[in-house]
Amino acid sequence: MNTEVNLAGIKMKNPVTVASGTFGYGREFSEFFDLSKLGGIITKGTSLKPRSGNKPTRVCETASGMLNSIGLQNPGVEYFAENDLPFLRKFDTAIIVNACGSSVEEYVELCKILNTLDIDGVELNLSCPNVKAGCMAFGNTYEGVKHVTSEVRKVLDKPLIVKLTPNVTDIASIAKGVEDAGADAVSLINTLLGMKIDIDKKRPVLENNTGGLSGPAIKPVAVRMVYQVSQAVNIPILGMGGIINGEDAIEFMLAGATAISIGAGNFISPYTSINTVEGIEDYMKKHNIENIIDIIGKVEMN
Ligand SMILES: Cc1cc2nc3c(=O)[nH]c(=O)nc-3n(C[C@H](O)[C@H](O)[C@H](O)COP(=O)(O)O)c2cc1C
Repeated sequence: MNTEVNLAGIKMKNPVTVASGTFGYGREFSEFFDLSKLGGIITKGTSLKPRSGNKPTRVCETASGMLNSIGLQNPGVEYFAENDLPFLRKFDTAIIVNACGSSVEEYVELCKILNTLDIDGVELNLSCPNVKAGCMAFGNTYEGVKHVTSEVRKVLDKPLIVKLTPNVTDIASIAKGVEDAGADAVSLINTLLGMKIDIDKKRPVLENNTGGLSGPAIKPVAVRMVYQVSQAVNIPILGMGGIINGEDAIEFMLAGATAISIGAGNFISPYTSINTVEGIEDYMKKHNIENIIDIIGKVEMN
């Protein structure tokens, strides 16, 4: 059985990666399993300078998923390069840095630095719903996405994946902006914007008022968007949104994803990602599939 995939020039031993912001920089999870078993690790959103994020309360549960408004708290790219990257590089897995910024210039400066680091690729976050400036400001129009991506492309020789928000009306046209700007892959979806109200206090539970919904509740939306994007662009797709097992991962791959990420599933159990690798292998055995790439985009529509 061959589970290898090639996402935008990044070779992975299997299609399973962990989604940005749900796996830190890997340290905590390395106490539970060998990170080399993963196809790839996507780091916490990393910015040019350190960010303290939003004020608490930043996370809450709903009946069908979690809401978060972390606001991209991170120690900044210099700290990452000195302290976290050497740790991550001990493992035989692809390391992809999730990059975030508040202006085009900041994305460009950050990616100039990332271009010099020993990493396998960059996932450009144009999709965070939880920061006032940046990310979403560029991420919800064809022109906005194309502009930032083109500017970053000029300074980044490494594989470039652009991550999209689902909080738009026509995801396919926005993905086209990613492709037209010369990126190597597109990743989707980030969280769906939501709100929870404390009925006794008559106030939103999250200090930021709104937050992003993640977990199994959003999976059908994500699968639909991955399929729509796969019909609109020729670059590969990194699919995510509610994946918690091998069956979910296969669904995304049939819809058109070359690789997948596990996000909120990492909070349900630290083993969700490696169980998903095994689940994919079980499916391959059951269906006599020798090469995992043979199922990518193979859904037969009614
Ligand atoms: C607590 C938390 C923090 C997140 N931080 C980031 C981030 O820094 N950058 C990013 O691109 N996405 C971030 N995301 C979005 C996830 O990477 C993923 O796209 C989303 O949660 C959907 O997948 P899931 O349903 O499997 O969690 C975050 C999600 C959660 C739950």
